[in-house]
Amino acid sequence: TNNPPCFSASHCFCRRKHTFILNRLHPYRLMSTVNSEKLSSARFAEATDAFVEKFTASVAFDQRMAQQDIQGSLAHAKMLCEIGVLTSEESDAIAVGLNQISKEVAGGTFTWSIKQEDVHMNIEARLTQLIGIAGKKLHTGRSRNDQVATDIRLYLRDAIKAICLELLRLQTAIVDLAAQHTQTIMPGFTHLQVAQPVTFGHHLMAWFEMLCRDFDRLQDCRKRVNIMPLGAAALAGTSYPINRHLTAELLGFSKPSANSLDSVSDRDFAIEFTAAASTIMMHLSRFSEELVLWASAQFNFVDIPDAFCTGSSIMPQKKNPDVPELVRGKSGRVTGHLIALLMLMKSQPLAYNKDNQEDKEPLFDTVDTLLDCLRAYADMVPYLQANKPRMYQAAQQGFATATDLADYLVRKGLAFRDAHEAVGQAVRLGLETGRDLSQLALDELRNFSLLITEEVYQVLTLEGSIAARNHVGGTAPEAVAKAIADARTTIGDESNLL
Ligand code: ARG
Repeated sequence: TNNPPCFSASHCFCRRKHTFILNRLHPYRLMSTVNSEKLSSARFAEATDAFVEKFTASVAFDQRMAQQDIQGSLAHAKMLCEIGVLTSEESDAIAVGLNQISKEVAGGTFTWSIKQEDVHMNIEARLTQLIGIAGKKLHTGRSRNDQVATDIRLYLRDAIKAICLELLRLQTAIVDLAAQHTQTIMPGFTHLQVAQPVTFGHHLMAWFEMLCRDFDRLQDCRKRVNIMPLGAAALAGTSYPINRHLTAELLGFSKPSANSLDSVSDRDFAIEFTAAASTIMMHLSRFSEELVLWASAQFNFVDIPDAFCTGSSIMPQKKNPDVPELVRGKSGRVTGHLIALLMLMKSQPLAYNKDNQEDKEPLFDTVDTLLDCLRAYADMVPYLQANKPRMYQAAQQGFATATDLADYLVRKGLAFRDAHEAVGQAVRLGLETGRDLSQLALDELRNFSLLITEEVYQVLTLEGSIAARNHVGGTAPEAVAKAIADARTTIGDESNLL
């Protein structure tokens, strides 16, 4: 009788009289559009609010894990039969029903319903519709909490494989291109200033190395993805005598997880995967930045094939490097997903919380984005055209062989710091008179050190400079050829893992 009205915002669900009844989403209005097919309805006196039903449903996006969900259920039913919880008739009927559902999903004829909230309940409801009472027994000894954790891990395991295959394709394209350019000279940069000459093959092989570590990271992450949460049930395990080793084996997991609370709650494996994905995207964004620079008229080092570029709607002369630019942009999006997942997990108490339903969209988009970007690169790299004369010419500018001259003086007995000083003076003369070091006369060079003699000009050539760096990891054509041979072995080893 003396209940004061509620002044809180439109989403308040208290039973008091609300003063802000004009809002479209006001609970009293929503309560009139309730639905009656509520999940686990026995416990509830009223149906779920229609907006809440939509708000809490995940079927729109988690239906993507339908095949993994079916895979998990097939293994679970088989195990329940082995331990005598299901009869073989029941388990066979479940298998027949699930296989039909798998076909319906694959063929696009499965009817997804928001009333069933998520992928798990949709499939279970359809199963019961198809096979009757046995369908209702499938959920014995499990919960959607361990089910969803299992589905994501199965999904991610497949995704990692697909990504690694694309990584391999890109690595192969890079190595093939590098093999054509072990002798192609270009300037190497630090601070984006000409530093020392390198070969284009050597530069390409730097990209290859980054992708090798990316491949390793994904394979390492897979070890922790490939552990089975099924059997943890809601959070505390189950009172049925389940055989988790059997289910793990049926699903190809390396082992069952060790703690039920941890199994249903943590998504660190997804965070780890997204971190590895962000690192790949960061690498792709670096390649992209270089390609964008190199394709510019000012650099003019490479030509990106027309098929990977677009024009401008206003400037007829433009050929824009859209693919690298878009990949560079998409790297931000994937890193955003990493942060979203970290923030999702942060401060969650044990065990499962509905928060975790939010893990899927960032994860799926990470997989899609990464696969698309890798695919675009693997398709494009074989067609990159290097402009060798232009690269060579650029290497001749900027005193790229200054370090070689200093090393030459050191070999003649000068201390490196003194050699550095002498060469600095020579560079200054070159700058003042608009000439490269190799264009300075012997007399002029001897003004800076009398140790300099005629053969210095061999040292000052680009070819001499790169040939001198003939050690493991160096830019000499011979060293790069060796790196390429090693890379082909690595690619072979990597493909054996998949
Ligand atoms: N759709 C849910 C998710 O993605 C499935 C698990 C639901 N569990 C629960 N107790 N409500 O996380």
